[in-house]
Amino acid sequence: MLVVPVIFFSRCLQDHATAGSDPRGDRYAGSNACIPCHARISASYAHSGHYNTSSASLPFPSSPSLPATPSTSDFPASPAADPKGITQRIALPGNAFYFADSGYIRIEEKDSALFQTWFGRDGAHLSERFDISFGSGEKAQTYGYWKGDRLYQLPLTWFAGVHGWANSPGFTARHAQFGRVITSRCFECHASYVSREFVQSGTLAVTENLDKRSIIYGIDCERCHGPALGHVKFHRDNPAVKTARYMVSIGSLSRRQQLDICGVCHSGNDRSPQRSLFSFLPGDTLSHYYDPDFGSGGTTEPDVHGQQLQMLQFSMCYRKSGMTCMTCHNGHDGEGPGMGGFIATCMDCHPHARHTAGLITVDKNCIDCHMPLQPSKIISFDNGAGSKNIPYLLRTHRIAVFK
Ligand code: HEC
Ligand code: HEC
Ligand code: HEC
Ligand code: HEC
Ligand code: HEC
Ligand code: HEC
Ligand code: HEC
Repeated sequence: MLVVPVIFFSRCLQDHATAGSDPRGDRYAGSNACIPCHARISASYAHSGHYNTSSASLPFPSSPSLPATPSTSDFPASPAADPKGITQRIALPGNAFYFADSGYIRIEEKDSALFQTWFGRDGAHLSERFDISFGSGEKAQTYGYWKGDRLYQLPLTWFAGVHGWANSPGFTARHAQFGRVITSRCFECHASYVSREFVQSGTLAVTENLDKRSIIYGIDCERCHGPALGHVKFHRDNPAVKTARYMVSIGSLSRRQQLDICGVCHSGNDRSPQRSLFSFLPGDTLSHYYDPDFGSGGTTEPDVHGQQLQMLQFSMCYRKSGMTCMTCHNGHDGEGPGMGGFIATCMDCHPHARHTAGLITVDKNCIDCHMPLQPSKIISFDNGAGSKNIPYLLRTHRIAVFK
């Protein structure tokens, strides 16, 4: 009976413009408050990977109280669980993952909820519920279950590349593991807020407790734009004013500041920030959140997974122009500009790129050759059917000539 209160609280907490009860503080309004004046952006945003990157995993098939396809008039107070319909595909017979040494895990539906259940030798048995999902499922989705105030990762992850279940990244394929703790760090990049508390759990040990009721799922408007209650109140009271007040204009920030708005989450998770990234606001400088060597290039080569900022900074396009992430992406669009849109952006700066005769053919575009898909060095999958190290492919952002 854990899931129900979580949903209940997250749903009413998101309507803060009037209640003033956002867990982040009384300067926040919540995404629903933006809809009346920014309907087009809100509607598109509801379909984006950003907005759907975490949710309370839900009673199967899908709870009638949550709209399956969000629309402007019914912008969900929190991301729809299962936007890609994964749970509808997974509770099928045959959804099992076999471990080398010790039995198998099956996805089961019980009491209208989904569980990962391990069946060991001699009837050994362990079953934990899908309480939270991370990742929109565009490429992958991984899950957590609550035990008191601590969250643990479930052993199996949905991996879109194989249309099925795979061992969660970094887990052994020999036996089932249910004991890996999910900390607030995942939420810092995959949600808008969770409040945490450190408690002494031994003479030298400190553990982190998470407050379920404080979670704001998905990356919401104010995660990127900062607290907006002042903006909302002003424009409600002054409908004739057509220029934004009490709101940071991202376009007027420096290039570094604009890059850092994305870099908060797109420059890797191999370092621990000195303070919570939830307090990062547009206009802040990311290097203030990390040890001084951040951004110096370091010794480790950036990975295609999660380090788009560092990769981009290696490319000539970046070094010889004023390019930011927004040159090619826009923070909101659920669909993105599409390949045609990306190519048009390349052409804006390279209308006369010189190529060896016969090199460019109809079936290869600029992106295939200059931003090829590359395997992550950090993450790969194992689907338990004898296939090991299935690569996790992402676009490199080191735009260059590849041979
Ligand atoms: C009562 C109407 C109203 C509400 C509610 C509202 N805004 Fe706005 N907002 C405006 C107006 C008017 C502008 C200026 C015209 C424009 O850019 O659309 C604006 C502009 C903006 C801008 C552009 C700022 C700039 O200078 O580049 C951002 C960002 C923004 N709003 C974010 C938000 C967010 C986030 C919310 C919800 C928390 C929100 N707004 C709610 C009326 C509103
Ligand atoms: C991932 C970060 C991110 C999120 C989340 C986000 N925005 Fe933005 N938004 C941006 C960036 C970056 C710009 C500036 C775009 C530019 O300069 O090209 C922007 C620009 C805007 C603008 C002004 C420009 C325009 O397109 O009209 C408004 C209004 C706005 N956002 C509203 C919202 C609302 C409402 C939400 C939630 C539904 C939201 N944003 C969520 C990053 C974000
Ligand atoms: C709070 C963390 C956070 C911030 C800030 C953020 N991103 Fe993301 N971004 C993510 C996560 C997490 C994903 C994976 C989404 C998923 O689950 O599909 C993602 C995915 C993306 C994608 C893949 C396409 C998609 O929508 O799924 C693009 C492109 C992207 N981000 C660009 C940007 C840009 C540009 C900015 C700055 C305006 C930005 N992001 C800011 C966390 C963030
Ligand atoms: C520093 C920010 C950051 C942290 C911390 C982080 N992630 Fe991510 N994660 C991202 C970004 C950015 C993406 C999408 C782009 C990419 O893969 O390069 C992503 C992608 C994912 C995806 C695939 C989503 C999709 O469908 O594309 C999953 C699943 C995921 N992360 C789970 C987790 C879990 C679980 C944790 C905690 C153990 C975690 N992440 C910690 C930034 C982060
Ligand atoms: C904002 C302008 C801009 C955009 C957009 C842009 N580039 Fe560039 N790019 C440059 C500049 C400037 C250089 C350096 C050219 C020079 O030094 O002669 C460059 C260099 C390159 C190079 C040569 C790299 C090398 O290492 O020598 C390639 C290849 C390239 N760009 C491809 C692309 C592709 C593909 C896209 C679209 C995904 C793109 N560029 C988008 C500005 C841009
Ligand atoms: C089939 C692969 C392929 C495709 C498709 C391709 N390129 Fe290239 N590109 C190359 C190679 C290889 C080179 C190195 C020069 C050469 O061998 O012709 C290059 C060189 C370049 C350069 C550096 C040379 C210069 O003119 O300064 C730029 C910029 C560039 N490409 C941009 C683009 C853009 C923009 C597109 C899409 C319209 C594109 N390329 C499509 C393979 C490709
Ligand atoms: C020159 C254009 C360009 C710039 C600048 C750029 N991107 Fe991208 N990005 C792309 C293209 C093209 C794709 C591939 C889209 C696809 O495959 O549909 C992509 C894909 C992504 C993805 C999804 C990863 C994947 O492999 O599907 C993320 C996340 C992302 N970009 C984040 C960023 C961030 C963060 C920045 C700024 C640090 C940035 N991008 C700057 C062109 C760009």
